[in-house]
Amino acid sequence: MNFRSDNEAPVNPIIMQAIIDANQGYDESYGYDKYSEALTEEFKQLFGCWCEVIPLATGTAANSLAIALAAPPYGSAFCFHRSHLNADECGAPEFFSDGVKLIGIDGENGKIDLDKLENTLANSGVHGEHECLPSVISITQSTEAGTIYSSEEMDRLLEIKNKYGLYLHIDGARIANAVAALNQPIAEMTWKKGVDLLSFGATKNGAMMAEALVIFNPKIIGDIKRRRKRAGHLISKMRYVSAQLLAYLKDHLWLKLANHANSQAQYFYESLKNSHKFVYPVQANEAFLQLPISVISELRVKGFEFHIWPGSNDIIRLVFSHSTKKDDVTNLIETIVNLCK
Ligand SMILES: Cc1ncc(COP(=O)(O)O)c(C=O)c1O
Repeated sequence: MNFRSDNEAPVNPIIMQAIIDANQGYDESYGYDKYSEALTEEFKQLFGCWCEVIPLATGTAANSLAIALAAPPYGSAFCFHRSHLNADECGAPEFFSDGVKLIGIDGENGKIDLDKLENTLANSGVHGEHECLPSVISITQSTEAGTIYSSEEMDRLLEIKNKYGLYLHIDGARIANAVAALNQPIAEMTWKKGVDLLSFGATKNGAMMAEALVIFNPKIIGDIKRRRKRAGHLISKMRYVSAQLLAYLKDHLWLKLANHANSQAQYFYESLKNSHKFVYPVQANEAFLQLPISVISELRVKGFEFHIWPGSNDIIRLVFSHSTKKDDVTNLIETIVNLCK
């Protein structure tokens, strides 16, 4: 029973079928196929605004290209210090952007402390050209801790971005989970809150190697197409990525899958919240639970798979996916209750 990662979940059958359906004869390469051509229109409908859509194979590529577009090589990007961007991309954002400096800000519950962010920005510029130019704020939604930036926090980010003349990027590897949890149109949480670029993830939520960088601000499209090629991410058989994204958006499949994942996480949380310590609020599809070490070992023996969170030996991360079975969650809950008696 796998609660280790939504990356380990299978591809949703509807999306797999879309790949098979796209596998008919020849079509143009490098994004000039009929699926890729239709994709931008679909995203425009989804967001209700103009946007440029760049299909990609990984979230790291989406994030790194976003930073490269939003900041000059001598710029700086502000992000949560333990974000995927800063901690788990092996320097790709710096590499793709020819050296943008990532500045990590800490905070509670996996989110940037917005007072600290503002304080850092207010104190930058003192050394003029000796400092990197503050250029972009990047947040993760939902966060690596399974939490969500609220509408009020997004308003504050917008205020900060405007005050300091920055761009705003969302790492949306799990944006579907955030949209499903907040139950708001995605536009309300993105461009209407001043978001300039969104890494729109689909892989974790049922697709196979399908992500998109969505650019809302025409000022920063710049040289995206050449940057993508130079980064090795201009996919020749792009139709297979675009066909997945089209199927993912059709009939709100992306939200149905995310709602399923989130509701498994909520079921788990509601069942144990009065008896166990959750390290972060459970707001999307992840739960971080503190347990006695002996219980953690026993759970593994009984066939439950999960990560022990780095930096601790008694906190486990449980990820609920679009294909998590409710019976497996029930089994996990009952086993934890029994082992903790
Ligand atoms: C928060 C976050 N951002 C981005 C990614 C994208 O990673 P990848 O490059 O493996 O697709 C991940 C994957 O684990 C993630 O958790």
